[in-house]
Amino acid sequence: MRYSNFKHLILITTLLFTGYAVAEEDKYSPVREKLETCFACHGQNGASSMGAFPILAGQEFYYMYVQLKDMKKGLRESAVMGPIAASLEKSEMKLMAEFFSKQAWPETNYTVEAEQATAGKRVVGAGQCVACHLGDLRGNSRVPRLANQHPDYLLATMLDFKNGVRKNSPAVATLLKTFSEQELKDVSDYLSSYSE
Ligand code: HEC
Ligand code: HEC
Repeated sequence: MRYSNFKHLILITTLLFTGYAVAEEDKYSPVREKLETCFACHGQNGASSMGAFPILAGQEFYYMYVQLKDMKKGLRESAVMGPIAASLEKSEMKLMAEFFSKQAWPETNYTVEAEQATAGKRVVGAGQCVACHLGDLRGNSRVPRLANQHPDYLLATMLDFKNGVRKNSPAVATLLKTFSEQELKDVSDYLSSYSE
């Protein structure tokens, strides 16, 4: 190859790559500013490090989109998220849910006492959680990932199902009502420390 041709090739390749990067970045530009407000509670890129705020980074796209719609409608009551979801258009919810689903799930390093792990495992078996949340408890599509989520959040939201605050999935609520608060605490700790 002649030297000048080679230079052209480099120029074209560079243009192609920068063009690609810009296109990728632009995809989320309509929601970039609003995403910053989400990071305030859910952590940078959704990698929440605080127990009360669920990890969104790496959570299922369709699941998160449905939650935002349900929180807007009040089917899932939340004093904090209700007004935030109410301010979002469907197109923004979709883009944000997609953005978070593309991030890597953060390391959480929770541990559980052997006795509680056994108790939690028993609940997972009795409730056939893996039938929907799958064998690795990482969910799929409409079903959320549970493995390595914050235990405080898992317990709080399961109690919301049990107590009728979270009304968007009657089947899950009916199932979780069959367990005591202690059993839900055990299963939260088991799930948060889950490793295959
Ligand atoms: C002031 C803190 C705060 C801010 C800001 C915030 N969230 Fe939340 N978010 C929460 C809390 C607390 C929950 C748990 C709510 C509950 O279960 O009642 C939650 C729950 C969620 C859930 C459900 C997760 C799950 O596993 O079910 C999604 C999705 C979500 N938030 C998305 C967002 C998005 C998108 C934004 C930005 C537009 C945002 N949040 C901003 C505090 C916040
Ligand atoms: C029949 C299918 C099914 C079974 C069985 C099931 N789940 Fe779920 N689960 C779901 C679906 C679907 C959702 C999402 C509901 C929604 O949209 O709010 C969910 C949501 C959850 C959430 C909320 C997660 C979050 O991020 O807010 C928790 C916690 C949960 N399930 C725990 C369990 C446990 C523990 C078991 C076993 C004892 C179980 N589930 C069994 C289908 C199931």
